[in-house]
Amino acid sequence: MGEQNHLSDSAFLKAVRGEPVPHTPVWFMRQAGRSLPEYLAIREGTQMLESCMNAELVTEITLQPVRRYGVDAAIFFSDIVLPLKAVGVDLDIKPGVGPVVADPVRTLADVEAIPDLTPEHVPFITEAVQTLTSELASINGGTPLIGFAGAPFTVASYLVEGGPSKEHAKTKALMFGAPDVWDALMRKIAGISAAFLEVQVAAGASAIQLFDSWAGALTPGDYQQHVMPHSSAVLERIGALGVPRIHFGVGTTNLLTLMGEAGADVVGVDWRTPLADGIARVGDRGVQGNLDPTLVFAPTEVMTARAAEVIEAGRAAKGHVFNLGHGVIPSTDPDQLARLTEFVQTYPLD
Ligand code: CP3
Repeated sequence: MGEQNHLSDSAFLKAVRGEPVPHTPVWFMRQAGRSLPEYLAIREGTQMLESCMNAELVTEITLQPVRRYGVDAAIFFSDIVLPLKAVGVDLDIKPGVGPVVADPVRTLADVEAIPDLTPEHVPFITEAVQTLTSELASINGGTPLIGFAGAPFTVASYLVEGGPSKEHAKTKALMFGAPDVWDALMRKIAGISAAFLEVQVAAGASAIQLFDSWAGALTPGDYQQHVMPHSSAVLERIGALGVPRIHFGVGTTNLLTLMGEAGADVVGVDWRTPLADGIARVGDRGVQGNLDPTLVFAPTEVMTARAAEVIEAGRAAKGHVFNLGHGVIPSTDPDQLARLTEFVQTYPLD
């Protein structure tokens, strides 16, 4: 219980609850990964999905950026397609490409063939989260762990296309042309994503982030009709556990209000939307973001001047968690992220 108490005093959990913070908390999407030499070293000879199913590797990789940067939160190292792999979907993550699915899902029978996820499918997740949360409790006075899952639309895009895509044309064709199959698919994925998050929360994760990275491909009307009810179902199941929820997508300026209404405590804003606009759109909720991830390639003082603008804009929000507007680019210099972390954590708020 003592552990719980000191974690709940962390700047990150205060910000996501909309309480006053000692400093703006900061973490980075994809903070664990190819920008870190220690990640490349430990991953050598091990496939991505194999790494995600090895509790010891997951623990170590998740801790790497926490040790290096002293960020205010850890994000569990895994992937949005891992739960599908765990229930038996034939897929792989190809380096430099992304998730590739052997038999794309197009029919009701295809959907029905996908098993629901139970904790027994992912014992390595429970083990990794338990080890991690006990180690994180004594790092920098207690560092919370963010669990995550892919939202139904983004996961569906990989399942239906068979791999990464730009237009999500087959996915949207299914959504427009076969609403019954679409509805069954979205329900199936929502159940899997919610169960995957419940496992992480039961094992000790302090907050969750639902990634709907590709939702920006949709109009607000289509999002509201075909996608939002299913993301809401996931967020509601986690809300029932009393855990704060972050909801993020890319290119979602016009969806931010709806993504908040879907049941998020904090809405992630990508770098294309000025943070003040994002705050106006999400209303009485927190925001997360949103420095352009390429600013790390600018001179440090240019990067930090832009970070200061983000922090200042964030003060108008109910709560602000500093982040990049999307994931860390693999060629990022970790020393720049170390400087950025320190800048955000020491930026005076009074
Ligand atoms: O943020 C973190 O540090 C946590 C780990 C994490 C990964 N993937 C690790 C990963 C998280 C949160 C994800 C989520 C994820 N995966 C999303 C949503 C977030 C986003 O980026 O919008 C999506 C769309 C995926 C699907 C996926 N997996 C892609 C597009 C790729 C990149 C393919 C490539 O190689 O360029 C992956 C692979 C992946 N996931 C890697 C990592 C560290 C790289 C694989 C490697 O290191 O070999």
